[in-house]
Amino acid sequence: MANNLFDFGMIGLGVMGRNLLLNMADHGFSVIGFDKDPQKGTALESSATAGTIVKGVTTLAEMINQMQRPRKIMMLVPAGKPVDDVVNDLLPLVDKGDIVIDGGNSHYTDTLRRVKYLEEKGIHFMGVGVSGGEHGARTGPSIMPGGDSEAYANVRTILEAVAAKVNGSACVAYMGKGAAGHYVKMVHNGIEYAIMQLISETYDLLHRGIGLDNDELHKVFKDWNDGELQSFLVEITRDIFLKEDDKTKNRLVDMILDKAGSKGTGKWTSQDAMDLAVPLPVIDMAVAMRDLSSYKDERLQAAKLYKGPGTSIEVPREVFIQQLGDALYFATIICYAQGLAMLYKASSELDMQIPIADVVRIWRGGCIIRSTLLETFYSAYQANPKLSNILLDPNVAKLLQAKKQHLRNVIMHATQTGYSIAGLISSLSYFDAYRSERMPTNLIQAQRDYFGAHTYQRIDMPGSFHTEWS
Ligand code: 6PG
Repeated sequence: MANNLFDFGMIGLGVMGRNLLLNMADHGFSVIGFDKDPQKGTALESSATAGTIVKGVTTLAEMINQMQRPRKIMMLVPAGKPVDDVVNDLLPLVDKGDIVIDGGNSHYTDTLRRVKYLEEKGIHFMGVGVSGGEHGARTGPSIMPGGDSEAYANVRTILEAVAAKVNGSACVAYMGKGAAGHYVKMVHNGIEYAIMQLISETYDLLHRGIGLDNDELHKVFKDWNDGELQSFLVEITRDIFLKEDDKTKNRLVDMILDKAGSKGTGKWTSQDAMDLAVPLPVIDMAVAMRDLSSYKDERLQAAKLYKGPGTSIEVPREVFIQQLGDALYFATIICYAQGLAMLYKASSELDMQIPIADVVRIWRGGCIIRSTLLETFYSAYQANPKLSNILLDPNVAKLLQAKKQHLRNVIMHATQTGYSIAGLISSLSYFDAYRSERMPTNLIQAQRDYFGAHTYQRIDMPGSFHTEWS
């Protein structure tokens, strides 16, 4: 610790801030954390590894005064006003050249505003996505930094040290200009929502559809996670089925109310995709299904009015489980395809210059959407860094071709018996539209021209045409 000054400072010692700071300390950096709540500082110091340099303080000035320059300060506070409040509290205390990092899930437009605001004052502001939850923060998250590249050069060593490692490569890379770090994290979360929705649909089909109990569900997800579906989200799902409720001794999953919450990042992904005109219907559907889940009272009324056609799927269990695994695999690829296609377009339209091969590389470890599939996508982007959609990669195409019939079968059985599988269906519909040489949108153009003289283009000659239809 040179001059008794700390290498890195953290604002907000909630579990994420504390764990990330302790992770830095474990890698040899001297760290200081600020939280108004003295208990948080005490918890930080008491959970530090012996021999590491970790200090907790209760005023911002105490922290700022004990830091090496340029100061490297991260905040991990709730998105929105708390971030602006921290920025305003920091301004009188920091010096030109200091680096202020927002490591939370801020909306990228807020980050752009803050970058500009602080740039005018000579302060580097970086929006950095951090994924991996509490455990990941302590042991190795995936880190998505964006913004000022000069500032990134200053924090790179620390971020590389603490990030998850895959084949020796750190799961952190510069994600591009402006708010690119938070943008990439937002899309990561959109993909996260979509895959979680798909997994919940497969759970429903296995549980209510073919009658598997929690031990059997555990076994299916274990087998899937041991094979080509290996991913963090499948792995935790496997474990969830075994967890006992300490209040009732039932399995906890059966005691949890079926209303999903959200903090907004999935919705932001959908909203921004609409603005960019990038179709990502599986992510849209995942957001919609979380919203629909909250209409519990109405669902209870509707359940009495509209009885389902049946409850069990009449396909031999082993056959159905195999088909469902393939369906989940197919649809999961579509989720990544949609999110990555969004990053491809945002990179140029929003002038962020996002290196998509690096995005995929750093998502291979530490983050919530890590999966073995990302290795395949990484190879695809290495072969063609300008790939606009991974569905155009020949190896990805082979994977989808091998699985698509099973997705069709699952959809047929599930819809006939009345299960809601919005994510699975929209992944197939997206695929079928994307691979269509000719979509039925010629008719939409005819209708638009009929009622609104919006004109249309022809297949046999250039130009814009209008017809008097009536
Ligand atoms: C991560 C997670 C993390 C957080 C989400 C949850 O990558 O570590 O995405 O950022 O768990 O914000 O989002 P919801 O509360 O909206 O589901």
